Amino acid sequence: MFDRVADRYDLTNDVLSLGQDRRWRRAVGSAVAARPGEWILDLAAGTGTSSEPFHAAGAVVVPCDFSLGMLRVGKHRRPDLRFVGGDALRLPFADATFDAVTISFGLRNLNDIDTGLREMLRVTRPGGRLVVCEFSRPTWAPFRTVYVEYLMRALPAVARRVSSSPDAYVYLAESIRAWPDQRALAERIMRAGWSAIRWRDLSGGIVALHYAERPG
Ligand SMILES: C[S@@+](CC[C@H](N)C(=O)[O-])C[C@H]1O[C@@H](n2cnc3c(N)ncnc32)[C@H](O)[C@@H]1O
Repeated sequence: MFDRVADRYDLTNDVLSLGQDRRWRRAVGSAVAARPGEWILDLAAGTGTSSEPFHAAGAVVVPCDFSLGMLRVGKHRRPDLRFVGGDALRLPFADATFDAVTISFGLRNLNDIDTGLREMLRVTRPGGRLVVCEFSRPTWAPFRTVYVEYLMRALPAVARRVSSSPDAYVYLAESIRAWPDQRALAERIMRAGWSAIRWRDLSGGIVALHYAERPG
């Protein structure tokens, strides 16, 4: 599915999120707070757009994804980034390799979220950090109603005009609705072995950033 949407992936994101995705990516950059020389894994990195803030901060960012279509578009656009082909459920990295692991709009797409969270823990050094950026649940009920209408009706209609594979955006809307809310995801992260878990809502809870640390 991601191979098919790769060509117009970044443009479609900008249109469907009304440009909010750029703000969300800046917030991920601040939450990870990468320092020069640190090793950062950006998992399910797609075309590498989510990796750019870490590179700009002077860290060594490794964008990793298993869609060759997304990696190809990414490598063409950003030849200077060290793209790696790899499955989030069996990461091709040694234990404790990274200072921080981050995953933007990717955790929801893994076939097995709990295995993915445990793999992220394995490749993070003790004391290292995790930042998950994912769609979540708007906290104000009236706004939530309007948002769900947007997801189920307007979003697939807009995607039909912009995306190279509109069906993928029906999946997007349905997978967002089926996703756990902020607290339930925090519990899931904790059960995978992470500690110091907290979260921050963005755009009224359309997106949430979950932050955690690998116990020292
Ligand atoms: C919605 S895109 C997010 C891309 C990027 N992080 C961003 O913020 O634009 C989700 C990505 O998850 C990747 N993905 C899904 N399951 C994966 C897995 N098991 N291992 C690696 N990547 C995976 C897909 O190939 C896709 O590129």
